[in-house]
Amino acid sequence: MKIDILLGLQWGDEGKGKVVDVLTPRYDVVARFQGGPNAGHTLEFEGQKYVLRSIPSGIFQGDKVNIIGNGVVLDPALFKAEAEALEASGHPLKERLHISKKAHLILPTHRLLDAAYEAAKGDAKVGTTGKGIGPTYTDKISRNGVRVGDILHNFEQKYAAAKARHEQILKSLNYSYDLTEAEKAWMEGIEYLKQFHLVDSEHEINNLLNSGKSVLCEGAQGTMLDIDFGSYPFVTSSNTVCAGACTGLGVAPNKIGDVYGIFKAYCTRVGAGPFPTELFDETGETICQLGHEFGAVTGRKRRCGWIDLVALKYAVMINGVTQLIMMKSDVLDGFDTIKACVAYRVNGEEIDYFPFDINEGIEPVYAELPGWKTDMTKMESEDEFPEEFNAYLSFLEEQLGVPVKIVSVGPDRKQTIERYTEE
Ligand code: GDP
Ligand code: IMO
Ligand code: MG
Repeated sequence: MKIDILLGLQWGDEGKGKVVDVLTPRYDVVARFQGGPNAGHTLEFEGQKYVLRSIPSGIFQGDKVNIIGNGVVLDPALFKAEAEALEASGHPLKERLHISKKAHLILPTHRLLDAAYEAAKGDAKVGTTGKGIGPTYTDKISRNGVRVGDILHNFEQKYAAAKARHEQILKSLNYSYDLTEAEKAWMEGIEYLKQFHLVDSEHEINNLLNSGKSVLCEGAQGTMLDIDFGSYPFVTSSNTVCAGACTGLGVAPNKIGDVYGIFKAYCTRVGAGPFPTELFDETGETICQLGHEFGAVTGRKRRCGWIDLVALKYAVMINGVTQLIMMKSDVLDGFDTIKACVAYRVNGEEIDYFPFDINEGIEPVYAELPGWKTDMTKMESEDEFPEEFNAYLSFLEEQLGVPVKIVSVGPDRKQTIERYTEE
């Protein structure tokens, strides 16, 4: 069997959690391959709302195995809080959540370093989620990291060495702090982690595939936040793109099956950095209010704008997307006109490719399409789609060269419509 990968094509928060939950019944295993508690994946069903940060979104549909892969960075204190809350709400995890021994641990001092580096950057700060993501991946790459498997052998020594190194850096940055509370919660998290299956997940996943089991990989963040291909330096510190699933799970590229690329019918971004189609007017504010565009992790207001097909085309290419999923269509239900950016104007010249630098001087060129002016939130089949909505879908498919297979018309699991139209 092959692995299928679901990942965000924009700046995160596309609705990955919701769709992974919807697709889970078709798979045996769901696996996260990168990122950490900077993610906030929201699921809604039966009147309940859940926000997952480190735990894959496949845990609500039956007793499927869920795996936290080696590419993920894990904060034991946040993980404990998340897992305990889920167990308390009637979703036992211990038997079916497996954690890679090679995943790296976010230390309390990594969070302090995240804050200290941001403070040192002043106006140039990235606007991180403050969860210690950058410093943890930095330690991984510079070969100083502490891994989940390390908690089983000589852990105190490894922790003390990493902490001492971090404290030296914090001192050099004149960053004052009190670690007592955070360290206590973190150590409790380490003990809690020992109750889970700590596994060699690359062996586990390949064995499962070889025995005919199907695996869905759940991306975090989005392509425009990728460390290599995103709007650098305003990005996260992992490979959020399709290739990240290979390194983050230990699965060979020739094992990749479908790649589901998920995007909003418009576009949002949280944190600092360029956003060519950002709206600073009433329309932007309306999208923000109708879409409840406030961060699931930090509560920050998300910046809103029209869909950017230049950036989306780039994301489709980098990820080898085979199927598109459009989310939050309902947010545009009341608009007379919908805009879609089809090119950038740079120094008076129009370009339709994603350039090296999108930081300055980019003016979006828009196509305008008629709005559908219909409440879509109760629709159950594509037969009910208004003509203008079908025209919007056809326009996107033509621009992006990939079919839109799923359309989401509300936050609930049930507000999801599959399209069966001929390709
Ligand atoms: P993720 O990080 O990609 O999983 O996305 P988030 O959970 O951070 O943000 C998506 C938000 O949109 C959540 O609050 C979802 O409940 C909500 N949502 C998902 N799909 C839809 C939709 O089709 N319509 C509306 N109105 N809300 C949606
Ligand atoms: P999900 O999985 C949206 C953004 C932060 C910041 C930048 C770097 O829910 O889509 P980091 O803490 O990773 O070092 O922050 O990336 N960011 C996200 N934005 N959704 C996310 O995750 C994000 N994870 C990180 O706001 O701009
Ligand atoms: Mg999110």
